[in-house]
Amino acid sequence: MTVIDTLIGEREIAARVQGLADEIAAGGPRDLLVVPLLKGSFIFAADLVRALHRAGLQPHVDFLTLSSYEGGLASSGHVRVLRDVESPVRGRDVLIIDDILESGRTLKVARDLLASRGADRVTTCVLLDKPGKRAVPFKADHVGFESPDVFVVGYGMDAGHAHRELPFVGVMREDAT
Ligand code: IMP
Ligand code: MG
Repeated sequence: MTVIDTLIGEREIAARVQGLADEIAAGGPRDLLVVPLLKGSFIFAADLVRALHRAGLQPHVDFLTLSSYEGGLASSGHVRVLRDVESPVRGRDVLIIDDILESGRTLKVARDLLASRGADRVTTCVLLDKPGKRAVPFKADHVGFESPDVFVVGYGMDAGHAHRELPFVGVMREDAT
């Protein structure tokens, strides 16, 4: 039987999300467009934009869907645009939100794409960073938590489309009993 152990609990996440929002607001973003990468960041982004509101910002929100995992558990190393943003980007401050920074490929593609469309400033915010897994050099501007090199689920993150609904970040484990 698969059991899911809590790695980061709800209250710890909520406190850190507000901390991230305060950090982002302190940077004084102008004409801010928040771009969550779907699907994995949808819960994190929903909490973060409300935290940004509490921090005094009025961001616009639009979505970008990139794919690298193709439904599996390991990155294929190839990133495709499945759904593009509809909002104008030129001259704006853009904040890309993702669930996990791992190889760095996904966020690098997203940042290069939005920068190439004339964004003034493109910054990135991730809930989790797995620095041990980097394949291309990439540093996120805002990091919620550093994560061990284990496969995590919950708070929007999935294993084969399952477990996104968990309100905490967890780790799957096979229980023999
Ligand atoms: P990368 O940085 O391009 O390797 O890809 C990061 C993306 O892979 C994240 O946005 C997640 O969607 C996915 N991912 C990486 N590690 C995990 C994990 O432990 N659980 C669930 N999804 C993951
Ligand atoms: Mg993702």
